Amino acid sequence: MPPPGTRWIGTSWKMTKSLAEARRYATALTDAARPGRWTGLQPFLIPPATALTTVRDALPLSAGVLLGAQNAHWADSGAWTGEVSVPQVADAGARLVEIGHSERREHFGDTDDVVHRKVRAVLRHGLVPLLCVGEPASVRAAGGSVEHVLGQARSALAGLDDASSVLVAYEPVWAIGEHGTPARPDDVAGVVAALAAELGSRIQGVLYGGSVDRANMHELLAVDHVSGLFVGRAAWDVDAFVAILDGAAEA
Ligand code: 13P
Repeated sequence: MPPPGTRWIGTSWKMTKSLAEARRYATALTDAARPGRWTGLQPFLIPPATALTTVRDALPLSAGVLLGAQNAHWADSGAWTGEVSVPQVADAGARLVEIGHSERREHFGDTDDVVHRKVRAVLRHGLVPLLCVGEPASVRAAGGSVEHVLGQARSALAGLDDASSVLVAYEPVWAIGEHGTPARPDDVAGVVAALAAELGSRIQGVLYGGSVDRANMHELLAVDHVSGLFVGRAAWDVDAFVAILDGAAEA
């Protein structure tokens, strides 16, 4: 685990990029990752499962970029057609596994119980869970954001003896994606403060994600208790990701 105070800055490619595109991105990121350039940061990159080994092979450990998977099943192996397990993504190079992204909760049946089982599986194999939580717009409008998000986090981490490697990403559903409304720092501060107050001593840190880009990254990174950023679209171009990393390193 990186030292306390490290800022985690990463991107998920979601369901984008061919292998050729993945290789070009990883090679360019490797070239950009000069020693000392991103001091104080822990960059991470979460390709689709198809591209994990391609990225791993193009991105040497010396580049200092942690690789992740977008999802993994709770079982280690077996008859689960279409799924990949934590040992499989670890074998392919992942050191971090994203669990419970709102797109999975909405479209793929990742209930709180499923999320909990997946977090346990990631921890059992010694990888870092990147647990995504966030409220839909209707919950925000009704003033229930904090309770909703704390409920998701409590359920995911219930009964765990050691959650010290867990990263929580606060990603309000209404702020994610091309139809999302970018959050303002005030929208983020209360929820992140509540997560930090309840879980801060148990987990590794709280990241913010949802329509983060080069224009709003500084104000979001400056919110109390935000220890990193989880970027989607704005980092799908490697030069843009490098610019975001440079911006965070300067902050
Ligand atoms: P966007 O930055 O594209 O809104 O996506 C955020 C996200 O879901 C990261 O996981």
